[in-house]
Amino acid sequence: MSNSESGSGVGSRAFDVDSIRADFPILNRKINGQQLVYLDNAATTQKPAQVIKSLTDYYEQTNANVHRGVHTLSIEATDGYELARTKVAKFINAPRREEVIWTRNTSESLNLVAATWAEANLSEGDNIVITMMEHHSNIVPWQQLAFKKGAEVRYLQHDDEGVIDIDGAGGVIDSRTKIVAATHMSNVLGTINPIAKLAELAHDVGALILVDAAQSVPHMPVDVQALDADFLCFSAHKMLGPTGIGVLWGRYDLLEAMPPYMFGGDMILEVTYEDANWNDLPYKFEAGTPNIADAFATGAAVDYLSALGMENVWKHEQELTAYAMEQVLSLDNVKVLGPQDPALRGGVISFIHDTIHPHDLGTALDQQGIAIRTGHHCAMPLVRSYGVVAAARASFYIYNTKSEVDAFVNGISETEGYFSR
Ligand code: ALA
Repeated sequence: MSNSESGSGVGSRAFDVDSIRADFPILNRKINGQQLVYLDNAATTQKPAQVIKSLTDYYEQTNANVHRGVHTLSIEATDGYELARTKVAKFINAPRREEVIWTRNTSESLNLVAATWAEANLSEGDNIVITMMEHHSNIVPWQQLAFKKGAEVRYLQHDDEGVIDIDGAGGVIDSRTKIVAATHMSNVLGTINPIAKLAELAHDVGALILVDAAQSVPHMPVDVQALDADFLCFSAHKMLGPTGIGVLWGRYDLLEAMPPYMFGGDMILEVTYEDANWNDLPYKFEAGTPNIADAFATGAAVDYLSALGMENVWKHEQELTAYAMEQVLSLDNVKVLGPQDPALRGGVISFIHDTIHPHDLGTALDQQGIAIRTGHHCAMPLVRSYGVVAAARASFYIYNTKSEVDAFVNGISETEGYFSR
């Protein structure tokens, strides 16, 4: 990929939290009379002015359909839409830009693989191996496929701290395993899973490895080639981009052999009254008018993160997580789920309070302007395995500060005071 193709004209920028915060209009908001402290980044991140502007610029200056017109606006829309794809390819070090498929989100990317590749390649008696810490999006499509095919969903175990039993994985992955589908980073435990090792185990038995990277691509450098991944899925809205657009990356040969997911405009090469055949990659998987504006904005989000440098993004979050973990672990009555060692996890801290229900805690923190997530985090089986139906979760991103962590920890203490009255 040349520089002009890759759109890497993006300059670098110092990682300075104050100047980063100045780019996020929403961070000026007051919630219940208090300054917003936004710690629900694993659910969705806030958007910088650059991303918001890319949307208004697109609609004010460029709006047209792609791949269909010879007029200037259509050509500009097509160029921008395809440039964003190239930026994403470069961001994850994809060998070819045609391997990046735009979807609605991570869930759709996962469903696409289950409904096409797996539908075509699994037979009765085959198995799909996933972890016990998957999001519903990486459980339910496999369960449904297994019911249909007479296949089996198998689970890789993890220890009390949420670390995968990689030595035991060899006993789960076997010659009937067709795909290993694992989260790169758990949205509940924060665990970072050994994807390259799982890829090796999968490939040793001729299986594929699919990576749910919804919680990793936004936060750390991710290189699909270094991971030796076959498929990798993520969403733009968790990495400063808009909702409603996500990515499926897949190996070219696999995508090429897969049947389409949806049928319609743009995904065909030729249609007769009797039959049809399919367009080249990536268009074979992009039926209908795509989400053009949000692709532009995803490109802007990738530019923003690339200018900061993903190593710096990761370093900031690691520092913040270590700082937060030390404080949260020192609280009485709080059990943190996942690895206790901050070096083994990302910036997601889920916890259970001995006496305060997560929803009460979330509501009390909201009164103090602090946004956290509470509930099952779309990982019901995992949360229930800790003997509860809900947990509280704080999750960090590039604009969070140590003083926000202090506000969050003080907020828990204040809530305890309120409930003990
Ligand atoms: N999966 C997202 C989360 O963990 C919504 O909050």
